[in-house]
Amino acid sequence: MKINDFKLERYFAQHEFTAKYLFSSSDCDGFEMKYVLEQASDNEMGLWEKQTLGYTESEGHPLLRKAIMQYYNSGNLTNVVVASPGELNFITMNVLLQAGDHVVVVSPCYQSLSEVVKSLNCEISYWQPDLGSWEFDPAELETLIRSNTRLIILNFPHNPTGAYLKRQQLDEIICIAEKHNAWIFSDEMYRKLMISEMPELPPISDIYVKGISLWGTSKTFGLAGLRIGWLVAQDKAFLNKVVAFKDYLSICSSAPSEILAMIALNHPEKFIQPNLKKIKANIEVFSAFTLHHNELFTFIPPKAGSVAFVKMNIHEPALDFCNRLVEETGIMTVPGEMFHYPGKFLRVGFGRRNFPEVLEKLETYLDQTTRI
Ligand SMILES: Cc1ncc(COP(=O)(O)O)c(C=O)c1O
Repeated sequence: MKINDFKLERYFAQHEFTAKYLFSSSDCDGFEMKYVLEQASDNEMGLWEKQTLGYTESEGHPLLRKAIMQYYNSGNLTNVVVASPGELNFITMNVLLQAGDHVVVVSPCYQSLSEVVKSLNCEISYWQPDLGSWEFDPAELETLIRSNTRLIILNFPHNPTGAYLKRQQLDEIICIAEKHNAWIFSDEMYRKLMISEMPELPPISDIYVKGISLWGTSKTFGLAGLRIGWLVAQDKAFLNKVVAFKDYLSICSSAPSEILAMIALNHPEKFIQPNLKKIKANIEVFSAFTLHHNELFTFIPPKAGSVAFVKMNIHEPALDFCNRLVEETGIMTVPGEMFHYPGKFLRVGFGRRNFPEVLEKLETYLDQTTRI
């Protein structure tokens, strides 16, 4: 199997731990261990202290799976498999797809959603949003369906645009999938980060028998370092195949991470609310900034999630701008090129508490430079 480099992750690898400021991260600030443990009940603290560091169950700790299933209306512990989100994406594509299958994927997208499909020699079509609104139209998705379409890959809240769907649109997509007997893999990594007043969508696994939901602790809970994610699906045969494939990768998850993830999932208000508050405040600051610099930036505020994809009116490619910015100011940003997207775009991440400070530094740079 040959797979192309993951451009976004390689770009992060180059700058994330050396740049002074991060302006494009999609995760929220990581909570401290101390904070997570302070939220634990006596029972949970007992589990944490007595946890041994042997292997754990391949499907995930039963108490973690129980904590996860509080967020789903359909299914029980046997409908969940725990692993890192990237691993679950990789396994799902390998389990579901064969060379020659056709897949429709949202675009622009987090590269692994399309790249693993391509590595399996599948045909791929990209479902793109309207440029002026980032609205995705299900009627357009339908035009992409072929007789060999096996899978539709969704990602709402959407990275990088912050787009979201109305319930009726999701139902239309399910009708299309049903008609063609296709699976839906729904990357719901940013679930519950609701910015607008739009009603929250149910996870796909609750409403479609061939629906597979992916979520994890990195974005919504501010716990990316745990490396914990999970799949929920109604189809047990599919889930059994996922667990069997996992034997060739991590086999099981990190025991301490499983307990910490369980604590967070059992106390969501202590994790999600602070993140949402920070994201909303940062969006407000950024809206004012883009209004002031409307000759340079076109900002469509995200409807959900922690990121936005901002159009830049500059002369050079976005990648050149971002490279120069990090060299001259220490501010790391992610250009649209990392999403294989044409045009000049910048992904902006709202989940960091130093966002206003970094924005000030960006503004000083823009005021001083003569090169854009
Ligand atoms: C849409 C999407 N899916 C999956 C992932 C992977 O999540 P994790 O970093 O927790 O492995 C990310 C991370 O940025 C993402 O944005």
